This record gives sequence, C-alpha cells and structure tokens, in this order.
Amino acid sequence: MLKWVYVGVKMKELINKLAENHKLSLQEWETLIGTEFLLEDLFEKADNVRREIYGNQVYIRGLIEISSYCKNDCYYCGIRCGNKNAQRYRLSKEQILDCCEAGNQLGFRTFVLQGGEDPFFTKDRVADLVSEIKKRYPENAVTLSLGEHDYETYRTWFEAGADRYLLRHETADRKHYEKLHPPQMSFEHRMQCLKNLKEIGYQVGCGFMVESPDQTNRSLAQDMQLITEFRPEMVGIGPFISHRDTPFRNEKSGSLEKTLKLLALIRLAHPHVLLPATTALGTIHPQGRELGLKAGANVVMPNLSPKDVRKKYSLYDHKICTGEEAAECIRCLKLRVESAGYEIVEDRGDYK
Ligand code: SAM
Ligand code: FES
Repeated sequence: MLKWVYVGVKMKELINKLAENHKLSLQEWETLIGTEFLLEDLFEKADNVRREIYGNQVYIRGLIEISSYCKNDCYYCGIRCGNKNAQRYRLSKEQILDCCEAGNQLGFRTFVLQGGEDPFFTKDRVADLVSEIKKRYPENAVTLSLGEHDYETYRTWFEAGADRYLLRHETADRKHYEKLHPPQMSFEHRMQCLKNLKEIGYQVGCGFMVESPDQTNRSLAQDMQLITEFRPEMVGIGPFISHRDTPFRNEKSGSLEKTLKLLALIRLAHPHVLLPATTALGTIHPQGRELGLKAGANVVMPNLSPKDVRKKYSLYDHKICTGEEAAECIRCLKLRVESAGYEIVEDRGDYK
C-alpha cells in the first residue's frame, strides 16, 4: 500500500515537471513510461492542455491511400515488397482527384496522400498531382506521406504546393530501428529526411508504433526526447498490430493503455502538437479513437480512398473502416467524436 502511494507521488512529481518544463531526462522518461500507475489524472491534465489551445475542436484529415506498391521491406508492414500475398494497386490521377472532390464536399480541408514507396510516383508525377489539387482547392492543405526521398524531390513537391509531410521516424533507437528494418534501410537516412523536410519549410510529422517488437521503455524515452528536441508540428503514434504475412506475424500487438499513456505524455511534452487518434488505435479497441481524444489527441484521419481498394492497403490485420464509403466513415466518426465531448470542424487545422 505504502509503496503504491510513493509511486503515485513520484509519478505526480514527474508529470508536473513535464507539464511545466516540457522536457525530462532520459532516465526520468524511462521511469515515467515504465512505471504502472493510475492514468486518469494524466489523461485529465493532457485533455486540459489540449482544450486550452484547441478548445473542443477535432480536425479531420482525408486519407487517400494512393498506392500499395512499395520497394521497401519493413518487417512490420503488410504491404512490404516481400509480401507476395499482398494485392497491389495504384490510383490514377483522376481517381485521386475524384477522392479530393468527394472529400471537399464532405467538409475536408486537408487531403493526405499516403502510399508505399512506389517508383511510379516520380518527382514529376507527384508534383503535377499536388499542383492540380492546389489549383482546384487553393484553401485546402495537402499533406504527403510517401516515405523517404532526396532533398530535391521534397523541395519540388513543396514548391508544387504541398504543405505538410508525415514521415514517422519509427524509433529513435538505432539498434531498435535495425530490428524493424532490413539492412538496406538506414536510421541515419530516415533522420536526415526529417531534417530536410523541416529545412525546406514543411509542417512535419514524425511518430512511431507503440509496443513494436523489441521496443523498450528506454527506446520510448528516446522517442520522447526526439519529439521535445525536434518539435515536429505533428506526431503520429498508434499500436503496432501484427500482420499475418510478415516476419512479425506471431508478435503481440501494442496495448490500448500504453498507447493512451504515450498520447497524454506527448500532449504534455509538446502542448501545441497536432496529434491523431489513429485508425490502428480504433482497430485494437472499439472506442480506441474516442479514448485517444480524451487522452490528448485532437485529429482524426478518416479514409477517403475508393471503397474497392481499401482492403488492399492492408498494413496490419483486421484494419477497421475498410468496408465503408467515405460519407459513411465521416458520419460515424462525427457521432463518435461528439460522444466523447468534442466537435469535428471544417478547417485546415494548422498548427497553432
Ligand atoms: N511509405 C510511407 C512511410 O514509410 O512513411 C507511408 C506509408 S507507411 C505504411 C505508414 C505507417 O504505417 C508507417 O510509418 C508505420 O508506422 C505504420 N505501420 C506499418 N505497419 C504497421 C503495423 N503492422 N502496425 C501498425 N502500424 C503500422
Ligand atoms: Fe513500404 Fe510499408 S514497407 S509502406
């Protein structure tokens, strides 16, 4: 009993320190992340911080999954090139523009073009696509999430009008990075890409999977320090979920509790950050996204991809929202967001 009281007091001290200074030492992070304690106070604190900055507003991002081809072979990912069972597709320019039109009519003011690293989507093809979208919807933001590319390519896409770029760093611990990726991929290159994106002028998002194989509380502490030092505009985190056709097929998926705890800690560490309650979180628990919002998240990313390709963008098993039309998805999410005490708004939802 006494021990629990002590743990509670110590954790409260660390949380207060984090809320005040927005940083902790690696050891303090590791203790806070690795110690079990009642999380209600932490969630309330994180929710208060998000409400002070963003009120009860939730921003929506229309996710368009443009290609399931990928030249990479990340061990966790269902669309890795080594998965011969994956069904491959890529959307045409017309299909992508149709998704944007449908999304715009449904109230989306940000489009996220995401996909595997598909050599078909060259520097020029993507630049052409981005400038066409910006020509049609000058008020809307375009986010790209197309993996690692050279400086020149990122710059061309930025100049074509792309506003934001999502590139999860996956883990800030080099050794852990090497356990999640084949030798052809490098931790240094991933980090260099993030720096380049920031230098070019994008609003940048990094992030990681929670409880991916071999992740330790130490490596999570490094992730948190990366966030407080790099200060990205967005951070995408969600539980790792195993996929049957990957080397990690028998690995345990990440938990709801740990993901919510990390969302709340990120909100306290970096109060203004744009923080999605992800589809992966909604996949491991029926109320995952609502609980994510209550723990400090302020963004949701419903799917705008054509219904017939959604099942093919299979990053992990049992992914939700693969059978609905975009309009059904947003209707369902509006109800969910309201039930949690928040409100979806028609807004680009820039970093404040
Ligand atoms: N190719 C781009 C890239 O690498 O950034 C974007 C697509 S990639 C599929 C988007 C994100 O999905 C990855 O950054 C990874 O964190 C997440 N992801 C992949 N496999 C996953 C899994 N099995 N469970 C949870 N998230 C996963
Ligand atoms: Fe390329 Fe997953 S391995 S998107």
